[in-house]
Amino acid sequence: MAASDIGSLRIAQNGRPNSLPGDELQSIHPEPYDEEAIHKTILVGDSGVGKTSLLVQFDQCKFQAGAFSATVGIGFTNKVVDVEGTKVKLQIWDTAGQERFRSITHAYYRDAHALLLLYDVTNKASFDNIRAWLAEINEYAQEDVVIMLLGNKADIAGERVIRREDGERLAREYGVAFMETSAKTGMNVELAFMAVARDLKMKKTRRPNEPKFNVADYVEQEKKNASCCS
Ligand code: GTP
Repeated sequence: MAASDIGSLRIAQNGRPNSLPGDELQSIHPEPYDEEAIHKTILVGDSGVGKTSLLVQFDQCKFQAGAFSATVGIGFTNKVVDVEGTKVKLQIWDTAGQERFRSITHAYYRDAHALLLLYDVTNKASFDNIRAWLAEINEYAQEDVVIMLLGNKADIAGERVIRREDGERLAREYGVAFMETSAKTGMNVELAFMAVARDLKMKKTRRPNEPKFNVADYVEQEKKNASCCS
């Protein structure tokens, strides 16, 4: 139901107060969620870790195998997701992982609401570079940005060099959420974006006396059932 704010008393459009006397605390917070607000979410990580593939899987539920063609510069895809009946608009930016584009992508960090930071579980260098990526994020992004660490290409069991526990440990050290994904099979792809959308929405609608939404706990609970387009 649409509502307008008059002082601290919220009046519903039918003219009746939508809170009872003595219920003032509830009527003050939170502001109605703005479904038109755009949440800028950026995919970052070394070249070849699967940023473009992850976005294509989330957006179109498909995986393009074959020759790898590196992203040049930066581009975005808009996606609206449903979080408990509320529309959350994500503007997902796919950045080029190659070093030569780094100065361009830094400029986009500043107004990012969320960052999905990827490494490739079959590529040790991409994992070792996560600390450098986090240092960059710390330098250029806003303090309250939502960060999620993703170990991608989890479908390639034979060539794996980074164990899930290594990813979990690193994420714990930096206090960020973590999961392994596969842009190929869709494993945890939808869950990663939905967890970010939920976290962004909760941040805006949380009442001061409510506990903070813990994206890491949410991810742990949801992991078992998640797979893209299921
Ligand atoms: P840049 O654009 O250079 O930053 O690379 P990127 O991170 O966007 O990587 P991209 O999505 O282009 O994927 C690189 C290669 O890895 C492609 O050949 C993909 O097909 C492959 N790939 C990506 N994700 C997965 C995955 O989850 N599993 C497997 N098996 N291959 C993947």
